[in-house]
Amino acid sequence: VLVETWVNAWALARRFPAPVRVPGGLRVNLGTDQERVRLVLFDADAGVIRDFLSAETSAGAVLKVCAEAATVEPFLPAGWKLHQPQHLMTASLPAPLPRTAELPPEYVMSSRVEGALIWCEVEDRAGRIAASGRLITRGRYAIVDDVETAPEHRRRGFGTMVVARLMSIGREAGAVTGLLVATAAGHRLYTALGWRVHAPYTSAYQDDNAPLSKRA
Ligand SMILES: CC(C)(COP(=O)(O)OP(=O)(O)OC[C@H]1O[C@@H](n2cnc3c(N)ncnc32)[C@H](O)[C@@H]1OP(=O)(O)O)[C@@H](O)C(=O)NCCC(=O)NCCS
Repeated sequence: VLVETWVNAWALARRFPAPVRVPGGLRVNLGTDQERVRLVLFDADAGVIRDFLSAETSAGAVLKVCAEAATVEPFLPAGWKLHQPQHLMTASLPAPLPRTAELPPEYVMSSRVEGALIWCEVEDRAGRIAASGRLITRGRYAIVDDVETAPEHRRRGFGTMVVARLMSIGREAGAVTGLLVATAAGHRLYTALGWRVHAPYTSAYQDDNAPLSKRA
């Protein structure tokens, strides 16, 4: 299952404990203040979702489902909210790499290996990061994570340059399929670069600001 490859790489990239296979998906015990536990489900299985939501009533539980928001929403009790829709996306790496603009002379692009991660960064002369992203390769998959362009540098082709460099590194490592989960802005970037949506990816979390009386 593609999403399993994605979750395993994501946890590795962000140094979280290895995901554990559970019925219908994967569980990651992140243990951070913001996110205690994450359940990622391969599809919107009503029984599995209800079990998770009724067991995880204290703060910091997050649910991710490869399904449309409209499918997940009816399962959510009061006090749970949906994030902006995301998308599990793939790209064929043998396809031509995206055309990139010329890097302006006042910027440098570099990549470096850090354990299992490959980082790519665009910096200005003062060493400020204009854009960055990282990659993990796992067999046939090149998993792209955390691509970001600083707000004042957006729409100048830097995101494209970072993704093209990561795709090229993944290809050289023998990967044939690019894989990522995209935000709405990321979806526009990756669609323009030839990536395609494999599945919708819906996130729900407990809204700590919800009045206690409305919580499940
Ligand atoms: C998504 C993001 C990395 C794009 O970076 P960028 O450097 O602006 O991207 P580029 O300049 O290379 O954009 C290339 C093309 O992608 C598309 N695109 C990128 N951002 C877009 C946006 N906000 N709206 C519409 N199209 C967009 C356009 O087709 C654009 O070409 P154009 O500018 O000639 O129209 C940046 O908006 C960002 O960091 N957002 C916040 C973090 C985030 O959501 N990251 C993605 C995680 S999956």
